[in-house]
Amino acid sequence: MLTVKNLMVFYENALAINDLSLKVGEGEIVGVIGSNSAGKSTLLNTIAGLTLDLKIKERRKGGERITLMGEIRYLGEDIVDMLAVHRVKRGIVLCRERHPIFPESDVMENLRIAAYLHPKAHFRKMADYTFDLFPQLKKYRRKRAGFLSGGEQQMLAIGMALVAGPKLLLLDEPLLGLSPAMQTRLVGAIKDIRATLGITIVISEQFARPVLPMIDRGYVIENGMLVLAGTGRELMENPEVKSAYFGV
Ligand SMILES: Nc1ncnc2c1ncn2[C@@H]1O[C@H](COP(=O)(O)OP(=O)(O)OP(=O)(O)O)[C@@H](O)[C@H]1O
Ligand SMILES: [Mg+2]
Repeated sequence: MLTVKNLMVFYENALAINDLSLKVGEGEIVGVIGSNSAGKSTLLNTIAGLTLDLKIKERRKGGERITLMGEIRYLGEDIVDMLAVHRVKRGIVLCRERHPIFPESDVMENLRIAAYLHPKAHFRKMADYTFDLFPQLKKYRRKRAGFLSGGEQQMLAIGMALVAGPKLLLLDEPLLGLSPAMQTRLVGAIKDIRATLGITIVISEQFARPVLPMIDRGYVIENGMLVLAGTGRELMENPEVKSAYFGV
């Protein structure tokens, strides 16, 4: 479904992604594991087209700060020069890190804003599914999003990604800062999204423990470079992964 080949992303002279290649098959859950500054967000932002948008914006201001090289193919199409909005229309939806939501708007309004590209019937179906997945959100659907807990805000952020109609859902550190119990609930929800809707998922995380059991395959990155790839089980049994990414 997605092939990234020899991807390079420079900010000024700093190399954020260094000759990275990876594949995501239709219906897979693929993990991207890496510590702080490893390049997880840059990778997902580049797949979603945000890095290209930022590069164009900065060029308009007269700067040439960002360099992007390599290949990104999605459903047989070369999308490396495609703006983020066109990638969203093709079903590449990114749920950015630290659950960005509209804090002044209520839960329903947040979901409506995220569904702006789609007809009402689609919105209703996906909003209903989101509320089945997270009954807590349904209870709070008229509550201002800024007053939700961190875990509830993350649920909303995932709901917003769902109503945007993903075929390929990119989740950037969705478990960040959440309690183990909340992490378990979100992991269950992510598995349900694949099982029920058949959506392909890429999930990034700093810690391997909560994500390895749910992924089909994973990539470990350090300093923007691929250091290890394997199935969830292979990575789980790898001593380097255990010592570096399992935390204490
Ligand atoms: N817009 C930007 N401009 C300049 N440098 C950036 C920008 N975004 C990221 N970087 C740099 O690129 C490198 C990779 O950052 P990135 O945010 O992709 O890592 P990450 O794995 O998502 O980290 P974290 O776990 O902290 O979210 C870092 O060295 C970071 O400082
Ligand atoms: Mg990040």
